[in-house]
Amino acid sequence: MARITSAVFSSHIPAVGAAIDGGTTDNEYWSPVFKRFEFSKQWQADNKPDVIILVYNDHASAFDLRVVPTFAIGCSESFEIADEGWGPRPVPPVIGHPDLAWHIAQSVILDSFDLTICNDFKVDHGLTVPLSLMFGQPDAWPCKVIPFMVNVIQYPPPTGKRCFDLGNALRNAVEKFDEDLNVHIWGTGGMSHQLQYTRAGLINKEWDTNFLNTLIADPEELSKTSHTEYIREAGSEGIELVMWLVARAALGAQVNEIQRFYHVPASNTALGHLILEKADS
Ligand code: DHB
Ligand code: FE
Repeated sequence: MARITSAVFSSHIPAVGAAIDGGTTDNEYWSPVFKRFEFSKQWQADNKPDVIILVYNDHASAFDLRVVPTFAIGCSESFEIADEGWGPRPVPPVIGHPDLAWHIAQSVILDSFDLTICNDFKVDHGLTVPLSLMFGQPDAWPCKVIPFMVNVIQYPPPTGKRCFDLGNALRNAVEKFDEDLNVHIWGTGGMSHQLQYTRAGLINKEWDTNFLNTLIADPEELSKTSHTEYIREAGSEGIELVMWLVARAALGAQVNEIQRFYHVPASNTALGHLILEKADS
């Protein structure tokens, strides 16, 4: 049987990708971040999954305002790299796991989650920056990745509660897959940030700290946080944090904290990072 054994949470700041690709990770600005990720990279190398379900948001690289799925799963064999801003990053294509992805789509629909099934889409920094943070710069990514896209760009995004329930449905789905697979689930984006208008640059360390504490200890309570609170307290792009609730719920209630890191500033955001393992894995 397949099993979700660990969850990794990380911001997906595009400037972090540019630092990796441009070789500036050890300068004064970035070295405090990348030094802390040395531990995470070692943990990742020691705990290699067969498949990662990578929950992220697209930033108008694959979808634009013509088509806005709320939840979309990548079912193809591979995914090309795209991006806005700095353009496509020089990283390997992402290799998918179509059998598990189709199984998930069929299973979660029985739990009332109607996913958009994507047989051809490109993935951007929302997905590639966390991969680079955890795996460095390999010629090929060392495991398969199922891209799982959540709309947090165009209102209305899903609620935290919907994301929490989806995480539970994903865990059920994976545990019904009839093959021994070690699966990790990642939640990306966040933490507090606002990229535009008069509150641009907003950082709310107190709110972020409480988010991390509650995500670990009582994610169901955290799932009650309203859209309005995310925007007011964490900024307009802080809503990306609902994706962390998908990953946290998918891991199950009892977890061990392996890594926790919070750093300000990183580009326009507070950079947050967690590694959790299932307690009985
Ligand atoms: C930044 C952060 C993001 O999450 C993003 O998608 C784009 C930009 C930033 O901090 O610059
Ligand atoms: Fe983003």
